[in-house]
Amino acid sequence: MTVIKILKVGGSVLTDKTRLESARIETIERIAAEIARCGTGLVLVHGAGSFGHIHAKEYGLAESFSPEGILETHRSVVRLNDLVVERLRRAGSSPVPVHPLSCTVLRGGRIEAMETEQVVEMVDRGLVPVLHGDVAMDRSKGAGIVSGDQLVAHLARSLLPGIVALGTAADGVLFNGEPLAEVRREDLSRIGSELGASAGVDVTGGMRGKLEELLDLADEGVSSVIFNAERAGLVERVLAGKRAGTLVEGRRI
Ligand code: IPE
Repeated sequence: MTVIKILKVGGSVLTDKTRLESARIETIERIAAEIARCGTGLVLVHGAGSFGHIHAKEYGLAESFSPEGILETHRSVVRLNDLVVERLRRAGSSPVPVHPLSCTVLRGGRIEAMETEQVVEMVDRGLVPVLHGDVAMDRSKGAGIVSGDQLVAHLARSLLPGIVALGTAADGVLFNGEPLAEVRREDLSRIGSELGASAGVDVTGGMRGKLEELLDLADEGVSSVIFNAERAGLVERVLAGKRAGTLVEGRRI
């Protein structure tokens, strides 16, 4: 059986979050090359950055139901997904797009149901499923945003991966400007006030939102790592199971 590795690369890495739909093509190509060298078993999730966050905010998707907002936000993240998929293909991987809008239902902003059987079949056949933060139907409020971080946590619960890694634009979870080697829930009150928001427009919670997803996961026994995907070589390193950035672990017992 293939060991599954779940990697999320944040929108702050792949795009310039302050400029509408501005992809960092060189970074995407460099990460695609690192991924192509990592072998099989990968499930990739990417953030939206300036594809999606800006539309979601413009249409007030977090607060109100907007048919136009759903379509425009989804189409925008799909444009980034298409860029990522194409660069992965050119680098030698066999990517396939998986759009959460089409296989996920939320309730109150949280995933209530998500089909993942197709993802397992894809991985078993040597394909790289490429999911992304997206807009999705929400049973309590019509539509909402599902972040890549929430998708990672959900996928990890159903796929039981060997590696869960979140590539961000920071060296990990920073405290006094330095990345922590590891973080657990009991550390949160000490470091809480330092957890900065993301640069540019972000509707899904920046580093704090990320950490909350990963601490819940860690408490259920799945550790993960938050590392800097802007540093060349680190994607390849974490996918090889080596240390980088901050390890998010379960409570001390
Ligand atoms: C957000 O996804 C999705 C939309 C706004 C449509 P993420 O929350 O995973 O994106 P990044 O990584 O913060 O850009």
